[in-house]
Amino acid sequence: MSEPQQSGKMWSGRFREPLDAVFEQWQRSFPFDVRLLPQEVAASKAHARMIAAAGILTDGELETMIEGLDQVGDITPEFVPLEPGMVNPRLLAAELGTTPRSIRRWLSRQPEFNESHVKHTRILLAKDDPLLLRMKNHFAIQANLNLDGDGVCEEFPATTEADLAASMAHAEDIHHFVELQLSKVIGPLALKLHTGRSRNEQIATDMRLFVREAIDTTGKGLRKWALALIELAEQAGDAAMPSYTHMQRAEPVLVAHWLLAYVSMIERDISRLTDARKRMNLCPLGSGAVAGATLALDRAIAARELGFDGPTANSLDATSDRDFLLEFTQALATMGGHISRFAEELTLYATAEFGFLDLPEAFSTGSSAMPQKKNPDFTELLRGKSARLVGAATTLAVLMKGLPLAYNKDLQEGQEPVFDAADTMHGILGILPEFTRSLQFNYERMRTAATTGYLNAMAAATYLSNKGVVFRKAHEIVGNAVRLGLQSGRELNELKIEELRGLSDAFADDFFDAITLEATLECHDVMGGTARARVRAALAEARERLSPVAGSQL
Ligand code: ARG
Repeated sequence: MSEPQQSGKMWSGRFREPLDAVFEQWQRSFPFDVRLLPQEVAASKAHARMIAAAGILTDGELETMIEGLDQVGDITPEFVPLEPGMVNPRLLAAELGTTPRSIRRWLSRQPEFNESHVKHTRILLAKDDPLLLRMKNHFAIQANLNLDGDGVCEEFPATTEADLAASMAHAEDIHHFVELQLSKVIGPLALKLHTGRSRNEQIATDMRLFVREAIDTTGKGLRKWALALIELAEQAGDAAMPSYTHMQRAEPVLVAHWLLAYVSMIERDISRLTDARKRMNLCPLGSGAVAGATLALDRAIAARELGFDGPTANSLDATSDRDFLLEFTQALATMGGHISRFAEELTLYATAEFGFLDLPEAFSTGSSAMPQKKNPDFTELLRGKSARLVGAATTLAVLMKGLPLAYNKDLQEGQEPVFDAADTMHGILGILPEFTRSLQFNYERMRTAATTGYLNAMAAATYLSNKGVVFRKAHEIVGNAVRLGLQSGRELNELKIEELRGLSDAFADDFFDAITLEATLECHDVMGGTARARVRAALAEARERLSPVAGSQL
């Protein structure tokens, strides 16, 4: 009997023939799922705790495994970006002349150390956290006393870029990589980790963790953008602009009212994300390959460890459900649509034909051919980016349609569009608030456009109807007045009272006060309307709703 040919694989036992070399490379997911390293390590730690509770690992083995997994997940900041203002324990360890492991140990003994300092396998410490200062003092003193010198505690090697590069060519996926790497770090004990679990539940868990984090980041970004719009709206004060229907001038609205329309869209986007987050926050670990784990695991342990609300209900569903990817990408596609509408309006309003705004130079480019040009690259790219967001949502929808239960390898194709959508939105929201804040409107041009082209015709008809003319008739009379104006190149307020009275004797001298820009705005005095007091109230309420709430994830 020959030896199995796939000895490096997680599934080699059954096989006698080697994989086709080209197929082997082609089917690997490691080149893209490598970014799930933090999630995979966090889920593995949770699984380790669960099997330890079931008696598979001793306390000592569990400790070794957890520390080993921490080292496996400890990778350079370029790989798993830190949040702004955070420090990297590895760089910090180097700076303090100690090791990440000693830092972790010291931190875990400090009473102030809590969940906010941990994200997956990373320790996050804000630069102004008092704990950081104490830690620095502690290690500086230790260094002086030479207590933490070589050989005092045995260190596991951390994962390096070189490890990743070496595995790029042969690790099948992130699950395989972590197992290989853990074996390097803690030896054969690593192989016990796979007791009672399957990659099918692992990838389902990793992706949930990824999406949950992406939802939180996206929500924060959206909130920032909404606040930038609110700021801009507050600055706009009572400035007016035309509103459009069918892209024809309709009625004047406050610039603030227009901007708040986008705030409403953002609020729906945030609520879609919040809602999806609630639904997806359940833990697949313990579902096994398809029918449930083959060990009597307490699934609540893993769920709690990973911040899920509880375990998923059905193993067939949990290992093959990707609704959360669908919901996430669909929410992002909708969001992309909103951003694209904003981008389109700004692109139009920045044209010489509209002249409502001057594009910020910091976000525009010139033409290599036409020296006079300032091109709206940012808003054009925003429009373009929305296409790939829709693409991601479409890929997921088509991928899932008709897929039989339970896990199928097709599901691997769902990862890249999700990563791409998350990255795309992250990129957009990293710029959009700043860009929005830097917009400079030409209020004079906007006002002129809002006061020419008979945008007060509706207010004029309302005036007649207030005088007792039935609205249908009032509409017709004002239509005639507009025609009179068009024939002689005059606005409604430039018509003579005698001319107007020729059309209806309901017209009186107070007509001209009823059709000023201000009156035209004020006649929309309903909730959600553009009357100035209504918009002021709406602005204050929006600011209140969107200001960060303590304890909220988004
Ligand atoms: N890379 C795989 C994926 O993304 C992991 C799960 C593999 N499971 C399996 N039975 N081959 O879907």
